[in-house]
This record gives sequence, structure tokens and C-alpha cells, in this order.
Amino acid sequence: MTKSTPPMVSGALPIVGHAAEFQRNRPELVRRGFVEHGSVFALKLANQNVAVVIGPENQKKFFMETDGRLSIQEPYQFLKAMFGEALFLAPHDKYLQQRPLVQELFKREKMLHYVDVMQEVVQAWLDGLGDSGEIELAGEIGTLVQEVAGDCFLGPEVNKAVGREFWDLYTDVGKALDPLLPPDLPLPKFRKRDKAKARMTEILGPIIAERRANPEKYSDFLQDIINRAEDDQSIDDEMVRNLLMALMFAGHETTAGQAAWTLILLLKHPDYLQRVLAEIEEVAPAGVHIDPKRMVQLDHIAWAVREVERLRPSADMLMRVVKEDIEFGDYIIPAGWLVQVAQEIGHKLPDQFAEPERFDPLRFSPDRAEDKQHRFNLFGFGGGTHKCTGMNFANNEMIVITALMLRQFELELVTQDTKILRGLGANKPTKTIVRYQRRELAPVEAELATVAGD
Ligand code: HEM
Repeated sequence: MTKSTPPMVSGALPIVGHAAEFQRNRPELVRRGFVEHGSVFALKLANQNVAVVIGPENQKKFFMETDGRLSIQEPYQFLKAMFGEALFLAPHDKYLQQRPLVQELFKREKMLHYVDVMQEVVQAWLDGLGDSGEIELAGEIGTLVQEVAGDCFLGPEVNKAVGREFWDLYTDVGKALDPLLPPDLPLPKFRKRDKAKARMTEILGPIIAERRANPEKYSDFLQDIINRAEDDQSIDDEMVRNLLMALMFAGHETTAGQAAWTLILLLKHPDYLQRVLAEIEEVAPAGVHIDPKRMVQLDHIAWAVREVERLRPSADMLMRVVKEDIEFGDYIIPAGWLVQVAQEIGHKLPDQFAEPERFDPLRFSPDRAEDKQHRFNLFGFGGGTHKCTGMNFANNEMIVITALMLRQFELELVTQDTKILRGLGANKPTKTIVRYQRRELAPVEAELATVAGD
């Protein structure tokens, strides 16, 4: 018997289909599809057919088929105006050349260095906060994560010299992201993007030239890309810039959003927060450097970070274009359709996660290990070939921000009703005011802090 295409979720309007609702409230639309039809169903975005597939086995197929019958490159074409042919925007053979280079940038010994840099940057930010006050957490963490990325990826000297201008230009480029309009239309936002890219080229040009001339003087991420470019002629200056931009894009808003949510959800769950504070006190009290041995003992923070990945994923939908007809469950998805997985539903299946709506980081403790039931039941960082290269970097950064902030400050949420602000690149919390008060250091901690500061 020939299989049919998936059933359509209710509420499609003439011509536009579900496009308006998709823009307004995509998790609700997907939830309705799941309730009406189960784990495979269809939407219509104007004349584009989309299949949404839910559940660990479908998620597994989605990630494992990628680049064969499911193309990651095609749905993200609109990003090319920003990053050229960097990473998965490149044709597959070029992507396979670039991937080891990017993986190399996150190797263990490099990560140890990044974690040290993270602690310096976060500590400098905390020192600047004074003894008490209020901050808007989502915005502050956004800037903090930019500083971390700047120091780790551009190197502290370059970040200091051009960092803020770089990020302002980067914002202009990011604002021109548009999945619908041709990227060369004479619109103000596209002109601004082109001006920003030209200025970035002007700024980074001499920096790249200096690094090519004196590679032995530098040992950061930018230098690693440049060293690789010296051996690989396909990586010219434009590709160096595109790779930098692509990694900043992939890494900063996503990490900032989930880092802010980690603090917010911990503050909303005082019982679990107490466990976290006790663990910090035991493993890495104020003033103590978090070395790799201590890092792996901060389990309760790591589980909270993972629970945020589950409940507040920065990316709530991933897409592929079907290149050859493909089956999902009882249905056939024809070539030309889009296929999507949806974290916000896929992460809340009651047969995978007990009381799935509840913030309950202990579900990841070894005796429960709910995420180990199926390799693809948690996919906030994707899976398969394109699984996030920066996952460890991001998780370490979120742990460092949480630990350093909580061990030095008592925090209180002034804003109680933080919501999810959905963006094109990443979701994040709406503006959230947090009141802070510096903790009194215990004598031994004060001593350690003085020694660390010497
Ligand atoms: C909480 C923070 C982050 C989240 C939630 C996140 C999420 C994701 C997801 C879902 C994918 C897969 C996309 C797909 O399959 O369509 C991905 C890929 C990727 N991410 Fe991340 N990411 C984060 C942080 C970072 C950081 C810090 C970096 C690097 C600085 C990074 C670099 C990448 C790269 C290079 C890829 C593409 C991998 C490939 O195609 O080979 N990400 N990320």
C-alpha cells in the first residue's frame, strides 16, 4: 500500500496557510498538531509544505539522515548573506573540509584555556557590579557572553581594541537576517548590513595580516583559524572573517539566553537552589579557581543547565529540506517538503521525561538519568553530523557564570513573570530585573580571595 503524506494541522488560512500563526506562536501550532495527529503531521507556510516529526525515533532519523536525503544547507540559505559559505552553508565537500578545523578549535586543551578566560571575564564583570544594586539580567548576560566570546575567539588585545565596535557592526549584520526577502534588495537594513560588513573587513584586515606575519606571537582561536588557513589555500581572509562571524552567531545569543534562564529558573526554585549553593560551598567557594577537577564536581549546576536546555531551548525548531522522498512513521514526506523537529514538544514527552513541564534537574542525576533512555530524546544542541560543535564551550560557560555569580551575590528576582522572547536566531528571556547583594565572605574564603587577587 502506498503511504500518504502526513495529515494537516487545523487552522490553515487560504493562501498563507499557517504562516501567520507560525510567526506569532509556533510552539502552540506544533502542540496543536501533535494533539490532533500524533508524532508526524503537516503545516503549510504559504505554498511550502512542512512536516513536523516528534519523538525520539523520528528525531534520530532526522539527525542521522542529514546531508543525505535531508539537506541542512538549503533551508538556511538566507544566512549566506551574513556568513558566505561557512560551515554547513558550504557545499558538502567544503563543509567536510571545514569541520575538522572547527572541531580542532574546541579540543580539550583549548577548552581548559577558554574556561580560564571565562572565569577572568566573568569575575571582572562581577567586580564591576559593586556591593548591591539591580541589573537587567538578559541584557547584562548578553554583553557578558559577547565579552567572553571576544576574549576567547578574537583574543583579549583585539577584543579590547575593537570589541565593542565589532559587536555593534555584528548587530547591524544580524538585524538584516531575513529568510523571505532576496538579500540584495535595496532596503535600508540590507544596505546597513553591507556597510557593516565592509567596515568589519576594514577592521579585521590589518589584524589578520599582522597575525599571518607573526603567528608565533598569538595563541588564541583567531590565530588557530589563521594558522590553518596558511596550510589550506581554500581559507582566504574572507573565509576567516566568515568563520569568525558564523561561530559568534552560533554561539553568543544561544548561550546568553540559556545562561540567563539558568539563573532565573534557579531563583524560582529555592529548594533546588539550596542544593546548588551547598555544592558550590563544598566544591568551589568564593575565591577558588574552578579547575577541571572542580568543574566536573559541580553536578547540580550542570543538571540545572541541562534542564534549561530541555525546558528553555534557545533553538526551538531545526529544519531540513527533503531531497528524496522519505518515510517517517506511517507517512511519506515528498522531495521539496521541509522537515522540522521541535524541541519544545520533543523535550516534553511524558514517556521520556517524568512530569515533563516541571523544572526538575535531578532527573539527570545518575539514579534517574532520564536523558539516557534514548540518545535523541534531548536535542537542544542538535544531534548526528551537525551536533553543536560548541556544546562543551557553552555548557562550561553557563556553569562558570552560574557558579561565580551565585557564590558572590545573593540574588532576588524583581521581575516575576519572565517570558520567552522568540527570535530568528535564538530564543531568550524577556527583560528580567534582578536585585543583588554581595555576600559576606567567610574568613577562609576572604583569605583565598586575597591570595587569588595577589
Ligand atoms: C546554549 C548554547 C548553544 C545552543 C543551544 C546551540 C545549539 C545548536 C544546535 C541546535 C545546532 C544544530 C543545528 C541543526 O542541526 O540544524 C548547533 C550547531 C552548531 N553550533 Fe551550537 N549551540 C550553542 C552554542 C554554540 C557555541 C558557543 C558555538 C561556538 C562558538 C556553537 C557552534 C555551533 C556550530 C559550529 C554548529 C554547526 C555544527 C555543524 O554543522 O557541523 N554553538 N548548535
